[in-house]
Parts: sequence; structure tokens; C-alpha cells
Amino acid sequence: MPVYSEKVMDHFMNPRNVGEIENPDGVGEEGNPVCGDMMTFYIKVADGRLADVKYKTFGCGAAIAVASIVSEMGKGKTLEEVRNITPTMVANELGGLPKNKFHCSNLGAQALNNAIDDYLRKQGKEVKSREVTNHDEEEE
Ligand code: FES
Repeated sequence: MPVYSEKVMDHFMNPRNVGEIENPDGVGEEGNPVCGDMMTFYIKVADGRLADVKYKTFGCGAAIAVASIVSEMGKGKTLEEVRNITPTMVANELGGLPKNKFHCSNLGAQALNNAIDDYLRKQGKEVKSREVTNHDEEEE
């Protein structure tokens, strides 16, 4: 079993903001091709900021902690700020993730981004789907 930071364990044992938003402004889903785990984010937007963020996740312990921390990182931020959240930022916020669990951090940032895309499309905006990546990603 990988060694997790205390913060990962805390968010895994007590995930924040779990659930579904009724009549969400945007919904984003993402699946992890590496392991088949899934995550869905629901958002409410007000004045260009994420007024509420909830999620459901069907994944490993790290994925649950990732979803929880991403919901906290995203809440209250502008859409642009949320778009700049990278998997590395998510992992750092959790006090680090074991190397073989780093791919789990992609799910959260990507699913939240997909929810923003969905919101913008519903507003009639043209949106190109984008992949959330680390610009500074190191070679394995
Ligand atoms: Fe699937 Fe972590 S092993 S998201």
C-alpha cells in the first residue's frame, strides 16, 4: 500500500463537499484510462466565480482525496483561476502523492475543467475541450 501524507488520509477519511448539486450550471465527467476510475463534478457559477462545487467519485483513496481538495481549491475562484489548476498543484496541496498514484491527481483538475466547459457551452460560448496538463511535467 502506498504511503500517503496526513492530508491525503484526512481528505480520504473526511471528504469535503461530496454530493450532487440540484440544477447545476455545469457538469463535468472524467475517466482515468490508467485504472478506469471515474469522477463527476457539479458547479454553480455566480459573478464569474465558482459559487458551489460538489462531486461524486468512484475511485481509489487518492482519487477521493484529490476530488475533495480540488473542490476546496476551486470554490470561490474565478473560472480563469480554476482553469490554471494543474495536477501538480493538486498533488502539492495534498502534501504530495506517491509516484504511482500521481495519475489520480489528473482526474480532479480535468473533471472540474470539463464542468466549466459544460457551463460555457450552455452559455452559448464556443469551447474547445482542453487537456489539463503540467507544463513542467518531468519525464518518468
Ligand atoms: Fe484510479 Fe487512483 S487508481 S484514480
